[in-house]
Amino acid sequence: MTTVKYSLKISECESYEAMSAQAAAYFVKQLEKNPRSVLGLATGSTPLGLYKELIELQHAGQLSFRDVTTFNLDEYVGLDREHPQSYTSYMYHHFFQFIDIHPGRCFIPNGAAPNIPEEIARYETFMQQVGGIDLQVLGLGTNGHIGFNEPGTPFTQQTHCVELTEATRQANARYFESLDDVPKEAITMGIATIMQAKKIVLLVTGKNKKAAFERFLYGGVDPEFPASILRLHPNVSVYYHL
Ligand code: GLP
Repeated sequence: MTTVKYSLKISECESYEAMSAQAAAYFVKQLEKNPRSVLGLATGSTPLGLYKELIELQHAGQLSFRDVTTFNLDEYVGLDREHPQSYTSYMYHHFFQFIDIHPGRCFIPNGAAPNIPEEIARYETFMQQVGGIDLQVLGLGTNGHIGFNEPGTPFTQQTHCVELTEATRQANARYFESLDDVPKEAITMGIATIMQAKKIVLLVTGKNKKAAFERFLYGGVDPEFPASILRLHPNVSVYYHL
C-alpha cells in the first residue's frame, strides 16, 4: 500500500539533463504567469543543471528575471560572503552573474553577521514583506534534510540557526579542503517557512538519494525525516532521476 499524497506531482525523468530541463520549464511557466515572482533558491549539486538551463533560456529570450526577487534557503554561519564555499559565492558563480536579475533583489542570509539572531529576524521579515515565496526549489539531503533542517527539527520552525549533523558536514566536505573546514552551523529557512511557499519544486538525483527518496514517498510524515512534511503541502512538483 502506498501512502503517497495525491497532491504530489511526480515526474520520473530519463536523465539529469531532462530533470533540469523539465524543472526549468516549470519556472518559465511561473514567470510567464507572474514576472514579479518571488523565487526561493537552493544550493548543492542538484540544482546546478536547473540554473544552467535557466541561464540558457534567459539568453534565448524565453524568460527574464528583471522583476524577480529571490531568497536563498540557507547559508553557513561563519563564512564571509566572499568565501568560495559560501552560498552567496555559489549563487553568484553559478547563476546570478549570468542573468538579468537586479542584484538588490537577491537575498541570502548573511552567515558572517555579527548578530545572527538579528540577521535571522531581518531575513524572515524581508520574506514576509514581499508576500512570501511563490515558488521554492528544494534538493533532498541523504538524511531527509531540506535546506539545512536536520532530522528532529520541529515542523513549526521558522528561519533559524542550526547545528549541522556530522552526516551533513561529511556530505558537504567534498567542497572544502578538509572536514574540519566545514562550518558547524548554518542559518536556514525553517520547515514552516518552506511550507508557506505557494509552490514547491523538489529535485532528487543520484543513486545515493534512492533510500531517502523512497522514505520521502512511502515513509510516515515524521520530523525525523524533514522532507516528509512536503507530502502535506498542496502544491509540490517532484522531478527525479536516480
Ligand atoms: C545541502 C544543502 C541543501 C541541499 C542538500 C543536498 O546541505 N543545504 O539545500 O539540497 O544538502 O545537496 P546536493 O544537491 O549536493 O546533494
